[in-house]
Amino acid sequence: MVTQYIENCCRQMREEQWVCNMETKIIINKHYQIGAVSPFLYGSFAEHMGRVVYSGIYEPDHSKADEDGFRTDVLKSVKNMGIRLVRYPGGNFVSGYHWEDGVGPRKDRPRKVELAWKSIETNEFGTDEFMKWCRKAGVEPMLCVNLGTRGMEDALHYLEYCNFPGGTYWSDLRIRNGHKEPYGVKYWCLGNEMDGPWQIGHKEAKEYGRIAAETGKAMKALDPSICLVASGSSLSSMPTFPEWDLTVLEEAYEVIDYLSLHQYYGGQEKGTKAFLSQSEDMEHYIETIRSAVRLVKARKRSDHEVKLAMDEWGVWSRPSNSVNEELKDTPWQVAPAISEQIYTLEDALLFASMMMVMLRNADSLKIACQALIANISSCIMTERGGESWLQTTYYPFYYISNETRGGVSLKTVEEEEKSADIDHAVVWNEDKRQLSVFLVNREEKATAFLQLEDFNKIKKADSIVLTANDPQTTNRENHQAVIPVETVNFTVTGDRIYVELPPLSFDVLRIITG
Ligand code: AHR
Repeated sequence: MVTQYIENCCRQMREEQWVCNMETKIIINKHYQIGAVSPFLYGSFAEHMGRVVYSGIYEPDHSKADEDGFRTDVLKSVKNMGIRLVRYPGGNFVSGYHWEDGVGPRKDRPRKVELAWKSIETNEFGTDEFMKWCRKAGVEPMLCVNLGTRGMEDALHYLEYCNFPGGTYWSDLRIRNGHKEPYGVKYWCLGNEMDGPWQIGHKEAKEYGRIAAETGKAMKALDPSICLVASGSSLSSMPTFPEWDLTVLEEAYEVIDYLSLHQYYGGQEKGTKAFLSQSEDMEHYIETIRSAVRLVKARKRSDHEVKLAMDEWGVWSRPSNSVNEELKDTPWQVAPAISEQIYTLEDALLFASMMMVMLRNADSLKIACQALIANISSCIMTERGGESWLQTTYYPFYYISNETRGGVSLKTVEEEEKSADIDHAVVWNEDKRQLSVFLVNREEKATAFLQLEDFNKIKKADSIVLTANDPQTTNRENHQAVIPVETVNFTVTGDRIYVELPPLSFDVLRIITG
């Protein structure tokens, strides 16, 4: 069905002999480089929230669970998707979390009330399980410390448990728990969304900035090899943005290595055009934060570099307070199924555009975590005791991550005349001689005309298209309804490539040069 639809669109466009009114000319020169694409742009996020952990990545009674209770079907999808880093354990959850509750013999772990998501936390899965899961998934762990109900001392204990070789109270506890070798966790977040009034232990900017600076200083005294992420704005629409970010940078600049930004977009009811164009806000958001970092660096006459970490991002199709609304009348439960959003093709296009914004900012954005890894605003869905399946959003992540490994993001020039609403990002891999062009066509059928400069002769090209005849199609009932299809929707003439894009589609063009 999907294949047929794409072929029909392309045939129709060919029959019209490319006289498509909407055309975008994109000039690509391999020397116009933005920056290396960090592998950690392809991160995700495992929070103790809803069914992300319990019956998401971990379900010991499941027929596909391995000896550690990890769902192997989910592990496989995570690996295929090209996830390279995972943030843990929250999120809002971390601001009330006692990490010690989640280590040691399972029978001794306490059941606790969990305030962020009105849940009961069994602590069956904790830091040691997460580390083991990361090893199996082949991903870098990124841990978050609780600066909500706790603070510096607890952060130091957690770091000592994870990274200190042995011979001290907390490191010996890790060894007694069966983990002789230190984990060497490199990436640490200093709290979560501390600017948000919803956060347990929410703080004023200066207050948080001081705590982040002092906590970070002590953590680096314990382990100078770590990298620290300070909590920046939770959304571009926060009333405190960008003052929050400037203040935190003023207080903590020399200690931190990354400033975080979080961003979710919903608003499908605004209509397709307005919904899809929200990625432009993300571009401005990153530009503003980048400028704030530069300003503070200059004010401080500092040589230190602070990069950006978009360590929560996604498409969120509900109003932001709806999770709490959802839970208002429900009893306290273990892993309640909350906020399990089902994505449409249209959602996948915005999702792809958000990833393309990240590529275009690859010089300063070095970490990004798609939120979350299973079941909640996720690319991977699981049924408790049943199968797992892939949402429409899985595919843009899969292609952008797997195609851009080891590449450098290129700055393009777009000719405005007759311009179609085509969003794009381009990555060049010198070793593989591979140019990857990602295109989102946000309107009717259109042509992208790629003019290549300073590349050797094109040897081969492939194109993969993700679309559907109804932009509201999801993969919920038919798991194959929105899947990528390899399509010959392009022609190569010397150093020019014409790509026919079906309406509302995501296209991956893989070009191999000599
Ligand atoms: O990703 C879900 C929640 O969204 C996180 O806990 C929080 O940090 C954000 O507001």
